[in-house]
Amino acid sequence: MKITDGIRYVGVNDHEIDLFEGQYIVPEGMAYNSYLIADEKIAVMDSVDGRFADEWLANIEKESGGKAPDYLVIQHMEPDHSSSIAAFAERFPQAVLVSSAKSFPMLKNFYGVEYPDRQLTVGEGDTLELGAHTLNFITAPMVHWPEVIMTYDSKDKVVFSADAFGKFGANDTADDDWACEARRYYFGIVGKYGAQVQTVLKKLAAFEIETICPLHGPVLSDNLGYYLNIYDIWSSYGVETDGVVINFTSVYGNTKKAAGLLAAKLEEYGCPKVAVNDLARCDMAEAVEDAFRYGKIVLATTTYNGDIFPFMREFIADLTERGMKNKKIALIENGSWGPMAIKKMTAMLEGLKNIEFCENTVTVKSGLSNENIAAIDALAKELCE
Ligand code: FEO
Repeated sequence: MKITDGIRYVGVNDHEIDLFEGQYIVPEGMAYNSYLIADEKIAVMDSVDGRFADEWLANIEKESGGKAPDYLVIQHMEPDHSSSIAAFAERFPQAVLVSSAKSFPMLKNFYGVEYPDRQLTVGEGDTLELGAHTLNFITAPMVHWPEVIMTYDSKDKVVFSADAFGKFGANDTADDDWACEARRYYFGIVGKYGAQVQTVLKKLAAFEIETICPLHGPVLSDNLGYYLNIYDIWSSYGVETDGVVINFTSVYGNTKKAAGLLAAKLEEYGCPKVAVNDLARCDMAEAVEDAFRYGKIVLATTTYNGDIFPFMREFIADLTERGMKNKKIALIENGSWGPMAIKKMTAMLEGLKNIEFCENTVTVKSGLSNENIAAIDALAKELCE
């Protein structure tokens, strides 16, 4: 597939995978992107998951017209991109491996291979001339690992963005809503590293970019301002969508009723968007992306073994480990004889920055009482202020 006159797609689609990175469901599969720049020298940008090494090497040979590549640029050492490097090095024994200083020890640690005579270490601002194309290297630590680099081709104005701007889903499946799976991917995998993403966005602003070539998902060439802006919102923990997301767990349906009543009241009072997640049944990664997407979140759960219901505990841990901030949070608890959930949830959330708790809380003691209904009404009004 042609990206520009000199750049070809040589990546692969994976429809065999069940869990990406061992935890994220990917019903539409996954793409491991790789690109070939054909010039006086040939550079391949990143490898692919090792299960697809043969397919990838065949793609390279086809797109290079049988000429052996001169360079493999390694932007990221996570195995979804690095586990075919050894196969490449064996197939093309003259090729030089180009990467950051942190990558080469990882190559040895993961795969037990070293190529001391075939390594070119690059850092911030270094360049590599291929002929008409010049590769400019940009360090991008923690987007998503410490060794990550991005690469800007100044001839075709293409940025190879490593994991950034990637998404779940293979490239040969329908993709009519990029943001949905890109957001779940971003907050699941890179969400903690907003400051580092902000740093790299500022570096990218110095380049004139016409095309973004990420390591997952489609190549982006239209409306780039949209993608850059949404990454700016995500990485600055801003509000992407005005509205409220209600996250609940429920054992016998009473906390679910409270969540449902709150959702109805929010809609009645004009809340622009209300999302509801049953944490025991939804994909937790979807709930996590919603929590970062909206500025106002509701947590409703049961007191359980003197603590909170396990799915809510896992959810809050997912938010705190990613450093969620800038939220208004409402708390609803249920507890038949000793409600503790609000106290426990508050304690879990207290280290987060710029969090405002709603004045109104709701304490259900088994089933919904008239006082609970009134409290939910008051909470809905506060959330709509
Ligand atoms: Fe796509 Fe962080 O690997």
